[in-house]
Amino acid sequence: MAKIPFNNLKRGYNLYKDEYEEAALRVLRSGWYILGDEVASFEENFARLHGANYCVGVDNGLNAIALGLKALGIKEGDEIIVQANTYIATVLGITMSGATPVLVEPDEFYNIDADKIEKYVNNKTKALLVTHLYGQAARMDKILSLCSEHGLYLVEDCAQAHFAKFNNKNVGTFGIMGFFSFYPTKNLGGFGDGGAIITNSVDLNIKLKTLRNYGSIEKYQNEIIGYNSRLDEIQAALIKVKLSHFSELQIGREKIARKYLAEIKNPSVILPNIREDATHTWHLFVIRTLKREMFRRYLSDNDIMTDIHYPIPPHLSKALAYLEHSTGDFPITENYADTVVSLPIFDGMTEAEADIVIAIINQYVES
Ligand SMILES: Cc1ncc(COP(=O)(O)O)c(C=O)c1O
Repeated sequence: MAKIPFNNLKRGYNLYKDEYEEAALRVLRSGWYILGDEVASFEENFARLHGANYCVGVDNGLNAIALGLKALGIKEGDEIIVQANTYIATVLGITMSGATPVLVEPDEFYNIDADKIEKYVNNKTKALLVTHLYGQAARMDKILSLCSEHGLYLVEDCAQAHFAKFNNKNVGTFGIMGFFSFYPTKNLGGFGDGGAIITNSVDLNIKLKTLRNYGSIEKYQNEIIGYNSRLDEIQAALIKVKLSHFSELQIGREKIARKYLAEIKNPSVILPNIREDATHTWHLFVIRTLKREMFRRYLSDNDIMTDIHYPIPPHLSKALAYLEHSTGDFPITENYADTVVSLPIFDGMTEAEADIVIAIINQYVES
């Protein structure tokens, strides 16, 4: 039996190989590689498909968050609320702005527990950065009303949830800005690093386009201290190809996920919960199991690869030791970190492969 990989980016590439190659060649042959028509037309497409006014292409998802917070004037001494079980990049986006991340436990959908946010709000709190983790939209109605009640900026980390919806509205359009990553494994992954910010604000659009390009929109007119954080022309051209096939790619993921949900039947495996008012784009299919090492070894012995998202929560990472958290501070987050396992789900994965994963899991006996 052939190995079932956790992911295989080559399969995704092969699905639209000719179109990717044509796009890459078009850019190579154009002689124009930075901030040209490809980035501009990608930005226009991406904004329009979201129902947003503007999009700013940047070099990666982490810098999308960092630039976004910078554009809002977030600085040292400010506090930003964020979920404790997110990928560390979300938290690093906050630390890059100089602000202090204030962590909140997740709910049963792995997103921030909206009922636990309020007690962390004080006069230093400037923003709430919500991550739509694993691909499922967070509880945006409650989160929106909390932000407007307390005068907080709402910003959204959509790195794992391109086009996920809450009550039929795209993530990234609830708050003042939505941040995206096009890291190759993401649902809208490119072929290298890439990221974007969407917003309805004309001022933020200009500010972000200035910040990403040395603080300048007009050549040699440097208005503010800026960065070099641009999306490459070649990435924009490649991501546009994937964007044009995004719906069919999502149908493929949805089929695998629905199969897992309907057919995995093992008392040792806790399947993901799906909100009724939201969609899940299945960036990751995350289950929980108590004896994780045994479970993963069993699957690996049966040629099925898995991964963990994420084994060390941000508050227990060495990098964030200065926040002075310790084990026990966020028990739900820590429990998730000890028990989550991500099953294979990727572009080009076959239903026959999902059948094998299901059959092997259903034969697993925890001892
Ligand atoms: C939730 C989340 N936020 C931010 C990022 C950062 O994106 P990038 O890798 O493009 O910097 C990632 C992915 O790596 C992510 O999963």
